[in-house]
Amino acid sequence: MKFFIDTADLDEITALTETGMVDGVTTNPSLIAKSGRPFLDVIADICQAVKGPVSAEVTATDAPTMIKEGRKLAAISENVAVKVPLTEDGLIACKTLSDSGTMVNVTLCFSAAQAILAAKAGATFVSPFVGRLDDLGHDGLGLIQEICDIYANYPNFTTETLAASVRGPQHVVEAAKIGADIVTIPPDALRQLFQHPLTDKGLQAFLSDWAKTGQSIL
Ligand code: E4P
Repeated sequence: MKFFIDTADLDEITALTETGMVDGVTTNPSLIAKSGRPFLDVIADICQAVKGPVSAEVTATDAPTMIKEGRKLAAISENVAVKVPLTEDGLIACKTLSDSGTMVNVTLCFSAAQAILAAKAGATFVSPFVGRLDDLGHDGLGLIQEICDIYANYPNFTTETLAASVRGPQHVVEAAKIGADIVTIPPDALRQLFQHPLTDKGLQAFLSDWAKTGQSIL
């Protein structure tokens, strides 16, 4: 399972990349706005910091302009994945960009039917939003299961299922059990994966007993 981090904060990306857990980055216009920096500069910096795919989202809503924006974003670095919304125009743009060899992440996916369309449009990644569905009382992880099951029926679908809008460790674990290819996780949620109170307690006890021996390894 691959981990992407869902942020446009370069310091966070650099710090978490050092853990060896980061396989890519996803951004969206809200995260770019939060960074307070020029979009193209942020994407160029992230692409330098991370080897894997870096999703950069178009902001046009018509296909011809999405394609132009997508080409401009893709020219920043070969690891840019152009993010397009799951609309009719977004899927037209997806097909055109994918056909010309650009990675495309189809975002804002909320149904299995939409995920089928994304795969048919040649998306590299489809991003179903787990947390936002849960927020409305729907079953976000149920959607991940449905999409993984459907894609498994069609070996010619090469689209990877990227569980997005992930809120915490339980979403990550459940998405892994289902077999999602990737999860994109906010930095704080990724840090939570490392933690367990029994790890802290156990380590404290080991160190205290070790100190009593008066020994040192080095
Ligand atoms: C996906 O690529 C999106 O950037 C993201 O996961 C949205 O998550 P949110 O629902 O926490 O905003």
